Amino acid sequence: MNLVVVSNRVARVKANEPMTGGLAAALLPVVEKSGAIWVGSSGRVRDGATKDAFADIEPLGEGAIALLDLPAAHYGGYYEGFANSALWPALHSRSDLIRVSLDDYRSYREVNAFMARALLRFRKPDSAFWIQDYHFLALGEELRKLGVTQPIGFFLHTPWPSRDVMNGVPNHRELIEAMLAYDLIGFQTENDCQNFASYLKSDLGLKIENNVVTSRHGTSRLAAFPIGIDVDAFAANAARAISHPEVVRLRKSVDDKRLVIGVDRVDYSKGLVNRIKAFDRMLAINPSLSRTVSLLQIATPSRGAIEAYEALQTELSRVVTEVNGRHGEVDWTPIRYLSKGFSQTMLAGFYRTAQVGLVTPLHDGMNLVAKEYVAAQNPVDPGVLVLSKFAGAANELDTALLVNPHDVDGMARALSMALTMPAPERRLRWEAMMKKLRNGTIEQWSSSFIAALEQTRTAEPVQYCDFPKRKAAADLTVH
Ligand code: F6P
Repeated sequence: MNLVVVSNRVARVKANEPMTGGLAAALLPVVEKSGAIWVGSSGRVRDGATKDAFADIEPLGEGAIALLDLPAAHYGGYYEGFANSALWPALHSRSDLIRVSLDDYRSYREVNAFMARALLRFRKPDSAFWIQDYHFLALGEELRKLGVTQPIGFFLHTPWPSRDVMNGVPNHRELIEAMLAYDLIGFQTENDCQNFASYLKSDLGLKIENNVVTSRHGTSRLAAFPIGIDVDAFAANAARAISHPEVVRLRKSVDDKRLVIGVDRVDYSKGLVNRIKAFDRMLAINPSLSRTVSLLQIATPSRGAIEAYEALQTELSRVVTEVNGRHGEVDWTPIRYLSKGFSQTMLAGFYRTAQVGLVTPLHDGMNLVAKEYVAAQNPVDPGVLVLSKFAGAANELDTALLVNPHDVDGMARALSMALTMPAPERRLRWEAMMKKLRNGTIEQWSSSFIAALEQTRTAEPVQYCDFPKRKAAADLTVH
């Protein structure tokens, strides 16, 4: 099978460059090992919607990356507009933040159609297309319009909300009907999958049997495929990274004190303001912790042209300044707040240095930072993960300290508990999480999805909204 992977953002090929977002980091090893071609946005735009020249095609392991300049006239309406000011807020259950126009929707559809045309050059008789994320909900339908008959799968990296929230998205019906051109529609969790199924049944009046929905496009299978990481590679990377000069500097600066770490894109779904408030509250409840613990919050700026993101940047700077002003001393700053990205290697070393990983999104499809923090720990002296129960990762990492990210006091208590947890309990919790991570690696995620996509062309059903049964390793190799 010739696999064509499509996403808006693609990884940077050069090692040690900052990586923005979980999707890019997750797909990198998949493409490197499978020999797939990975098509995405170059980040540049080009005048004239009919010109679809690729800026670049670069080799990546066994595979390659193809970067496409998107049409200038539609890029803003597609990316900042419909994708990130209508779909993103809705998918994260923030309908109050939806700001969108009909023009934005048209641009979104134009870019989906443009991408479909560009993909034709990669089509071979044995191709299969694997489309990623909410930027391309309608790409499958556009490919079918162009006569593509090969299997097309779709995976959503974000949550899928309840049907009433989706009803708040303009043109939701047309868009979700278009999604049914996909042969396979994958979600992070069973809950997301069930929310989608509930929309299909209640709003589109469709019947779903044995996880298969029939529509005017034919049949589509629905299933949950929780995304994982390359656990052993990440663990080895973290152990090595401890001697990286930047990590050594961090360790020296922490000295014998303790470090809590948070790593996020600046996004309202990440619960950053409540997290800072929880750290503030913890210091207020436990004055004895003053000077003994600091929070390193890496907050990579994101989507700054959108008002809600700009406002969040401003609010975060204000809250961090207030907390540092309140608790800081001439020789101690409680919160180290860094507005920039770091390479995966450096992050791995930072995670291993920190005694607590603080991952508290209000809503998150999976959250790979949580998984990476666990994988990076020293087995004899592991740190503690404090994790929001509203991150998809909480389904697997259920021996983390699970918190409600809306409950600032509860998070402050969990933080104190994490900082004082005895080593035997830390080890027990960590070992249980590592076992789960090893049972659901990135390799298993991609193999399971591709196997299920191939099965859509056979009559063999997979169980409704269940993680697809794993086939024998030899059957799962991606060519
Ligand atoms: O979760 C969806 C996702 O595609 C992630 O990969 C990443 O966290 C984020 O969105 C990337 O957003 P952007 O490309 O807008 O920075």
